[in-house]
Amino acid sequence: MSSSDGLIVSPSLLAADFGRLADAAREAESGGAEYLHFDVMDGRFVPNISMGPSAVKALRTVSRAFFDVHLMIVEPEKYIEEFVRSGADGITVQIEACTHLQRTLSLIRSLGAQAGVALNPATIPEQLEYVMDDLDLILVMTVNPGFGGQKLLPATLPKIQRVRQMITDSGRPIHLEVDGGITHETAGATVRAGANVLVAGTSLYHYPQGFAAGIEALRNTAMSL
Ligand code: DX5
Ligand code: ZN
Repeated sequence: MSSSDGLIVSPSLLAADFGRLADAAREAESGGAEYLHFDVMDGRFVPNISMGPSAVKALRTVSRAFFDVHLMIVEPEKYIEEFVRSGADGITVQIEACTHLQRTLSLIRSLGAQAGVALNPATIPEQLEYVMDDLDLILVMTVNPGFGGQKLLPATLPKIQRVRQMITDSGRPIHLEVDGGITHETAGATVRAGANVLVAGTSLYHYPQGFAAGIEALRNTAMSL
């Protein structure tokens, strides 16, 4: 399922009811979300622990969405193969957790998944200059990773613009994803800055009128310039 406006929404399961994750995955797909975002946290890279490959494997049986797996863990290279085997379609590693980033990105692609790299708010995008050929997605974190429900940091908006410019200059079809504090109020600014994949947790799974109304509000406001 692809959207007519070219914008991809990736609902973050972190904000869903963990006792009903299968329902949350189905809700995302029937709401027209092409991606499903898995936040993997290890209690070391970020001060929180969330889900692992078994959640990916279990939900693979109920969803055909693109499984967008965001690893907020140290030594991600140790777990990539298991996540791909469990059903991940794309794996995004945090640049701050990778000593040998190019090797890690190549490993992801060699397993048949799309390779992504995430940048914390304080990390400069120029660090990606020599790995642009190895990337399918760049994730600009719009909050410090670790928790859902935070507010978008405005200083990340010029960074989104800078990353969009780097992608254009590279001539490569790299997605630009944003994650953290994306709501119907903030999404428009990130899209205008150059984002084309929106991760949203709280603003969808806790939308007062329900998930379907939340995703519609997000798309509408994101596309109204
Ligand atoms: C933050 C995670 C996000 C988080 C976003 O560490 O990477 O994916 O779930 O949550 P909201 O949309 O609630 O800010
Ligand atoms: Zn995430």
